[in-house]
Amino acid sequence: MTMPPQPADTEGTGSSSPGGPDVVVCVGPGGVGKTTTSAALALQGAKRGRRACVVTIDPARRLADALGTGHLGNEPHLVNPPAGSSGWPGELWAVMLDAQGTFDHLVDRYATSGAQAEAILSNPVYRNISAALSGTQEYMAVEKLYELEESGRWDLIIVDTPPARHALDFMEAPRHLMRLLDNRVFRLLMAPTKVGLRALEVGTQVLLRTVAKVAGGEVVADTVEFFTEFEGMEDGFRARAKRADELLHSRKTEFALVCSPRRDTVEEALYLSAQLAKEGLEATRVVVNRCYPRYAPLSAGAQNRLADGPLAPLVANLEQLELVSAKEEEQLVRVSAALPKAVLYRVPFLAREVAELEALEEVACYLETEEARE
Ligand SMILES: Nc1ncnc2c1ncn2[C@@H]1O[C@H](COP(=O)(O)OP(=O)(O)OP(=O)(O)O)[C@@H](O)[C@H]1O
Ligand SMILES: [Mg+2]
Repeated sequence: MTMPPQPADTEGTGSSSPGGPDVVVCVGPGGVGKTTTSAALALQGAKRGRRACVVTIDPARRLADALGTGHLGNEPHLVNPPAGSSGWPGELWAVMLDAQGTFDHLVDRYATSGAQAEAILSNPVYRNISAALSGTQEYMAVEKLYELEESGRWDLIIVDTPPARHALDFMEAPRHLMRLLDNRVFRLLMAPTKVGLRALEVGTQVLLRTVAKVAGGEVVADTVEFFTEFEGMEDGFRARAKRADELLHSRKTEFALVCSPRRDTVEEALYLSAQLAKEGLEATRVVVNRCYPRYAPLSAGAQNRLADGPLAPLVANLEQLELVSAKEEEQLVRVSAALPKAVLYRVPFLAREVAELEALEEVACYLETEEARE
């Protein structure tokens, strides 16, 4: 991968970012369009002349193909504008989060030698622990964000998030790791590396004997070896988790709340927003995605004229759409009232799946126009 050249600043884009890149984290309930919105926001950044990179999580297959992330590893990939288009003045990069790869990369980075890294990476206990940790994805998404930010290669980073069971899963990921490293059992297990196995604290010996009974001596050997190998790395991990936590709370990091205009997803989204507020954070943008179109109602006269004619089924359809759209409006009003300071965007239900760059450009256009508040 080559270093991206510096594109010219474009007036009004704010593309120069002293003090690090701008970061936008897209959060929201499952299936509402977080991945789509993240990619569209990055594309919007590229159109505004910025060096933008999006970290996507499990994008739909066709979107991954369009972004070229489908078969690429853990490294950002430069996305070319669609053939025949006038392109964009900035750059669009995309990377698909590979949680295990990100974790392995961290071990490589903080190991004091190649041999240490290799011993850890091939240790079955590491593979289990990392699979369990990286299985949550949130921690590795924060890690990836931090890695991209630290590289200084982008001035806009957009982070997609896994479907949120809880907004704080994402926010808390670095702190979870810090807590694990500070955990008493973890520290006891680290003890052999410092004082020699024979001098193990009684508590640790009991713990290891119990593990040996349940899981077999080999597991104990692997566990002790893992913690022995881990020696010297935990400080690096802890410092990094702390900086990642600071990055999430920094003024350069914005949160975009994505939802659809349905009561259940709005409720979940508002719950997530309340969770963010507990962290002293707020969503600065709200994207209400997949809204049905609004049509002017037929006049009573037109309705009477058309009611018994061949267009009657269409009139009935229109009535149904009006009902749906009225319910959706209620949800928009609710979101708008709950987040009065956020910029509100309405993205319509497109007739096609958002799987090509052209469709992403269409979504990006809707993210240009702020929804008027009633
Ligand atoms: N405005 C839209 N119009 C039509 N289809 C859309 C729109 N936005 C998203 N989609 C489609 O909806 C599906 C889900 O979108 P997406 O993957 O972005 O949601 P998500 O919130 O990331 O889901 P998950 O929580 O599972 O990660 C995709 O197939 C996408 O193409
Ligand atoms: Mg997604």
